[in-house]
Amino acid sequence: MEVIIQSTPEHAAHQAAVRIAQSIRRKPALVIGLATGSTPLRLYDELVRMNREEGLDLSQITTFNLDEYLGLPATHPASYRRFMQENFFGRTNINPQRTFVPDGMAADIPLHCREYEERIKAAGGIDIQVLGIGSDGHIGFNEPTSSLASRTRDKVLTEQTRRDNARFFQKPEDVPYVCLTMGIGTILDSRQCLLLAFGAHKAEAVAAAVEGPLTSMIPASALQLHADAKVYVDEAAAARLKLRDYYDYAVKHSP
Ligand code: F6R
Repeated sequence: MEVIIQSTPEHAAHQAAVRIAQSIRRKPALVIGLATGSTPLRLYDELVRMNREEGLDLSQITTFNLDEYLGLPATHPASYRRFMQENFFGRTNINPQRTFVPDGMAADIPLHCREYEERIKAAGGIDIQVLGIGSDGHIGFNEPTSSLASRTRDKVLTEQTRRDNARFFQKPEDVPYVCLTMGIGTILDSRQCLLLAFGAHKAEAVAAAVEGPLTSMIPASALQLHADAKVYVDEAAAARLKLRDYYDYAVKHSP
């Protein structure tokens, strides 16, 4: 894994946005996997700015979101479809027809999950997958002990994740217990992964994912198996990394 440590979340998000923008300029029909939550907000702001001010054309990209809450319609204020619409899609020239988010209201969940996987394949696979990390080490909503070979499916959220995400709901008890999420196998199939993590509350999960053993107890550690995974962190999220100096040195000397 390549670890890129920046002084602030803004700098880290900017670096990740520049990487994505370069890829879009090379391949305008790029297929991008997207995350929700607080972490990617600065990245989306930066891509929106590049779209408006720097001529970054997003009209041909296709996007696949990692996850959605089961039982929430797209119109629900806490649904991830709505989150994406408000924070990214609706602020750009992205073609809404090419934005895919798992449907939390699908009548036949196993069928819907299989079709989601098929749709990703039909689009040519995911070129760049954007990821955040949960304080319990989850990526997507693959909670600890998720199979490292898992595909898109329903998953019961841990109590910790429900607590962490309660801020998006009116009452903590409104947070659904179940979600739909791409699997770890789905994520590992992407050509490049960009994991972003900011703040001291992510430091332990980041260190376990990057430097700990490969284990389903820390689902993000599965990225150790990925040939092209980059981790963008601010100083606070990097605080528990043992090889911190090496990462700076490697970025400085990399060809
Ligand atoms: C959301 C997702 C999750 C979040 C993680 C961190 O689509 O896939 O893995 O990235 O829960 O959430 P924040 O960024 O809110 O700390």
